[in-house]
Amino acid sequence: MSLRSKILGTGRFVPENVVTNEDLAKRFNTTDEWIQQRTGVKERRYILPGQGPAELAEKASRAALEAAGLAPSDLDFILVATQTPEHQFPGTSCYLQARLGIKGCPALDVACQCTGFLHGLAIADAYVRTGAYKRILVVGAEVHSTGLQFTDAGRHVTVLFGDGAGAVVVGAGDDPERGILSIELHADGSFADDLTVPAPGSVFQPRIDADMLAKGMHYPRMNGKVVFKEAVTSLIATIKSTLATNHLTIADVDFFIPHQANMRINEAVAKEFGFGEGKVDHSIQRYGNCAAASVPIAFDEHVRAGRIKPGSTVLFATFAAGFTWGSALLRM
Ligand code: UT7
Repeated sequence: MSLRSKILGTGRFVPENVVTNEDLAKRFNTTDEWIQQRTGVKERRYILPGQGPAELAEKASRAALEAAGLAPSDLDFILVATQTPEHQFPGTSCYLQARLGIKGCPALDVACQCTGFLHGLAIADAYVRTGAYKRILVVGAEVHSTGLQFTDAGRHVTVLFGDGAGAVVVGAGDDPERGILSIELHADGSFADDLTVPAPGSVFQPRIDADMLAKGMHYPRMNGKVVFKEAVTSLIATIKSTLATNHLTIADVDFFIPHQANMRINEAVAKEFGFGEGKVDHSIQRYGNCAAASVPIAFDEHVRAGRIKPGSTVLFATFAAGFTWGSALLRM
């Protein structure tokens, strides 16, 4: 049994292919000005043809393992959070395990959309603290670009999303003041239809047909205004709760990494708490919304840039389809 679990290493990978707002404006009716004003996104990355989430996950995972000074064979559990798996089944975690060249350890996909990485971290934290597993790889990996609607009908969603992967290795820590201090998770399924990709779906026979394709039911459907309002309210509530759980105030937080859904959501949350500009991640400007991968990508960037260092107190907060949301507090 370990009192705390801690982050042993972080990694990320984003595809080389940069897609600017101007690039999107060549494909449907939009402008750089509209996108930046409403979302903060300037550019995002798209995979090259043939790349899948497990490939991105492998590159991020190998970087995290190297940072931890570990080899793939040292892992005893693999968790991948994704809303864009290669196929309906098996999970991306199994494809990742094969790519890492290991066998036998469990490989689990977490389907909790943009909150998925926090769920993965919570599972890893619990397993490590009980001693069930010792070194757990937690990855967020997404390929959105193959599932977006590049027409005027889908433009309010399409401009938001990008592809990428981030990873951490979680292991036991012996310092009660350091490591994953707390994670809280929430859901409200009454909003399930406000952000969804309806088809293919097992409620349909067949699961997808030409009519559904013509209606665009295989593309994300989003009630953007509802998502925006609920995101701001829920993120503020969960951050207050996490700070109270840890008997801390916002002044104790060195760095805040919110999920990168929309920069305006994050600005509203940061303003509520009075977070200083240099203390909040805005990687959405360069990568768009990478769903489960957004938080671990940003985390790795700030760790490697030295903005998050030993002793730093780091706050994560996410909001996602479902709706699901949550927050976590770590001391490095
Ligand atoms: O992880 C969760 C992911 N999702 C989110 O966090 C999304 C939260 N919501 C949002 O970020 C915002 O709702 C959006 C940025 C998606 C949309 O902003 P909005 O202010 O809610 O815009 P809207 O969809 O109500 O559209 C306003 C106008 C409409 O034109 P009219 O009817 O006023 O003439 C849209 O047709 O903006 C138009 N519009 C666009 N124009 C240029 C919608 N998308 C675009 C676009 N380019 N890409």
